[in-house]
Amino acid sequence: MLSHKKKKLKLETSTDISSIRFRNVTIFIIPIRIQRLRLEHMKKLARRKGFEITDIMSENVTHIVSELKTKNEVLEHVADKLVFTVPSSCEILSMQWFVDCMETESALPVTDKYRLPSERKDEDKNESSTDERNVEKTEYKNAKYACQRSTPFHHPNRKLTDALEVLEKHAEFLTDDQNNARALAFRKATAALKAYPSEIKMMNQVENLKDLKGGQHCKQVIQEILDEGFCSEVERIAGSEWYKVILMFTGVFGCGPVTAKKWFDKGCRSLEDVKKHFVNSLSREQKIGIEYYSDLNTPVRQKEAELIRQIVCDEAVRILPETTVTITGGFSRGKEYGHDVDLLISHPEESKEADLLHKLLNKLKSLNLLLYTSTKENNYSESMYSTTEPRKGHMDHYARCFSVFKLSKSAAAVSDINDVNSENKKNSLDNISKAKQSTEKDISDNALCLNEPIGEQSIRDQQIREQSIRDQPINKSDTTITNCFFARRVDLIFVPASQYPFALLGWTGSRMFIRSIRDYSRKEKNMILTSHGLYDKTTNKLLTAKDEREIFQHLCLEYREPGERNC
Ligand code: UTP
Ligand code: MN
Repeated sequence: MLSHKKKKLKLETSTDISSIRFRNVTIFIIPIRIQRLRLEHMKKLARRKGFEITDIMSENVTHIVSELKTKNEVLEHVADKLVFTVPSSCEILSMQWFVDCMETESALPVTDKYRLPSERKDEDKNESSTDERNVEKTEYKNAKYACQRSTPFHHPNRKLTDALEVLEKHAEFLTDDQNNARALAFRKATAALKAYPSEIKMMNQVENLKDLKGGQHCKQVIQEILDEGFCSEVERIAGSEWYKVILMFTGVFGCGPVTAKKWFDKGCRSLEDVKKHFVNSLSREQKIGIEYYSDLNTPVRQKEAELIRQIVCDEAVRILPETTVTITGGFSRGKEYGHDVDLLISHPEESKEADLLHKLLNKLKSLNLLLYTSTKENNYSESMYSTTEPRKGHMDHYARCFSVFKLSKSAAAVSDINDVNSENKKNSLDNISKAKQSTEKDISDNALCLNEPIGEQSIRDQQIREQSIRDQPINKSDTTITNCFFARRVDLIFVPASQYPFALLGWTGSRMFIRSIRDYSRKEKNMILTSHGLYDKTTNKLLTAKDEREIFQHLCLEYREPGERNC
């Protein structure tokens, strides 16, 4: 027996009878290809304007509205869920009819303009081949390695990659070998989609992408998003307590997934819990990470990165003239926001930068600009190419300092105002002198607009983490302290001139790009690429390069600008 339930596509409340203005119209919206929030919004809007919107597909429905392209697709979609035939009097309409009705606040008569065709028009049928042509035009190569493709920062398939990145992160949080392999598979699929030059609308556009072949799980996720506008598995994971808490904990500087899980398993659900239960075992990083959680999870803006670079550069040049300080990492790939500032410090004369690390740190400390530092001396040696495992050879051996920098709020705010006035030169000097006076009186947080929409998963993660914190019960004594600075993660890397192009390539990233170009070097060229050099295992020679281009040439790879390395 077919249960009553089967008749219902979705259960929910329907319109209050008294508010219905258009008595002969009962609308049902096919939920496919419409994001849940948008669907809710559409229903609310229509009900407010006096339309009857039903959540149940029944014989009473007079107008079906859908984002699907044809009448047949709509009928196919509802057919297996209904025990009756959709009456022929029921209109099957495009979204345009709905939109026009809302705009005119009237139940517009149905004309052919609004009716969905039974079959796809020829140009629709050719949709995928048009896309194929686009793909060829923009030279998207279904390349074996991500480093062989151009991957811009802004791409048209963000919705798909955001979803896959949740699954990747979730697998990464689980930390065992099998899940690490799953995380990598998600990352590779994401990288392939990030490089895809047009919006993916049909499954056949991606089915044969090398990095998706065999990735049944990824394909299901993509299929569901194409059909429904969202993926239920991703929504379930992203909404689960475990994921949200682990995401929040891994936002603590010095806390990886293993520690985060330990905290969770001991019953901690908030940073307050962690402070209470692990007070004696927190590392120096973690203490700072918890105390400055909000700052360190607020995306760093490009302006702030430049301000910090300038401060560091001024001091470095005073100690050692001609020292160069360059922003690398995400900012150099065109990102407007980052989780930290990566600075490469070098000098045109080989090894001149060698004793700069300590002098510079002492100076920055004396200016009260550093909240935390962790330094490491240079331990690079050429012999490691022949003596270590290739994977271990990938490690970075530069002298460096991982720090938490104190960026004066007033300087950052002035920099904001400069943005608006675009009065650059003079004011940027003012900023720098202000930034150094980090003991200055605090200014209103309202002067800063840190909540602009940011189209990036990692940044959204940071915002989610922040939200989790805001949602927690507040311990007044902790949160009422307002600092006059923003805590910012800054990495200082000291690089000898001869290795600079390799360091620049390595630190420009992205992580996936570097992983891929190293894989490519090893497997295709029998070479070991590190952030220090390129070693040819066939000739047992270390290759030199005067710039990044030359490294690509050694590897017989088409050069990719930093902005194309966002895989
Ligand atoms: P980041 O982790 O800072 O990433 O590493 P990002 O691309 O700048 O993005 P944000 O900061 O989250 O916005 C930058 C690059 O530096 C290299 C990695 O290859 C990475 O792509 N790196 C990072 C190293 O070589 N060694 C490290 O210890 C850290
Ligand atoms: Mn970075």
